[in-house]
Amino acid sequence: MAIELNALHFESKKCPSFGLPAAANRRSPKVFMASTLRSSSREVDNLKKPFSPPREVHIQVTHSMPHKKIEIFKSMEDWAEKNILVHLKPVEKCWQPQDFLPDPASEGFEEQVKELRNRAREIPDDYYVVLVGDMITEEALPTYQTMLNTLDGVRDETGASLTSWAVWTRAWTAEENRHGDLLNKYLYLSGRVDMKQIERTIQYLIGSGMDPRTENNPYLGFIYTSFQERATFISHGNTARLAKDHGDITLAQICGTIAADEKRHETAYTKIVEKLFEIDPDGTILAFADMMRKKISMPAHLMYDGRDDYLFEHFSAIAQRLGVYTAKDYADILEFLVARWNVEKLTGLSGEGQKAQHFICGLAPRIRKLEERAQGRAKEAAQKVPFSWIFDRELML
Ligand SMILES: [Fe+2]
Ligand SMILES: [Fe+2]
Repeated sequence: MAIELNALHFESKKCPSFGLPAAANRRSPKVFMASTLRSSSREVDNLKKPFSPPREVHIQVTHSMPHKKIEIFKSMEDWAEKNILVHLKPVEKCWQPQDFLPDPASEGFEEQVKELRNRAREIPDDYYVVLVGDMITEEALPTYQTMLNTLDGVRDETGASLTSWAVWTRAWTAEENRHGDLLNKYLYLSGRVDMKQIERTIQYLIGSGMDPRTENNPYLGFIYTSFQERATFISHGNTARLAKDHGDITLAQICGTIAADEKRHETAYTKIVEKLFEIDPDGTILAFADMMRKKISMPAHLMYDGRDDYLFEHFSAIAQRLGVYTAKDYADILEFLVARWNVEKLTGLSGEGQKAQHFICGLAPRIRKLEERAQGRAKEAAQKVPFSWIFDRELML
């Protein structure tokens, strides 16, 4: 959703907005949703090439971290080994998707599938749309590993590098890989969704990639991942809660288990940024402000199913309506990170650093205020939209 925040004196004239319902959304004026970044970017019309989803193009900045700061990350190697790698779980102690799914090698497989499908029947379509959107987001994991490996000073230089940063990135990816796997298999067995349309959406999404505007800069990159891990923790936690409300305890366990992984990852990424605040408070506060000015884009905001040019906005609107991931959550995450990194109490900053601190500390209340206003408008402008993931059945946004 893209409300314009000029009134708040954001840097960009067309500030993309996450978490802020779409008062001035030029693409879909009646749609109000929890997330996305559409502006401060020039949208290129859907080219409808066989492999080309709708795209947005903004000026892509590269290598914005001064080269000498790479040394900071090199000097953090040992620290990362002792403080970050400990947040990974040994494979043998990890859950696997199969722990939550009918066992195809067992006698009772068919019966277990039948039970799963009986439980799935009780869950409404809008819940499935949100779960599918979450699954598709997880399934675009190749994009996220690529994103981490764009970051200067921490990328996996060989594909099997032994630096702590590279070990973390590969193991993190391997842990994350179970999320999409599990949700995908569950949804396949549920019989409630159009798997081919979903698979098509995943292919489009991975093909389109993403530019979270982290500029090869690990300061920006780790602020982004801190935010995103918490966002996914919240959203999987909420799909768990709703599954329980709908009487499906197994599905609640599935989503809750994934949420717990996200929480562990959040702990690791926020710890890295905490350390950066310790080593280089000025550089880190400037990066934090920069990321928040640009807005945190959702990883799957370029999703496309071959039909709906506003698919991500529509999915986000349902997530907002169900309370799975809302504009309020965006402000809450920001507030959480401000507290986690003690931003208000930072001292010894440069003039620019103090300005960034002031901007960040005042941002959450301003986002909330805008959100309240937009919520009122969203209710007035509700509309019905078909989702190909559920065989084109229509849902109220
Ligand atoms: Fe995940
Ligand atoms: Fe994650």
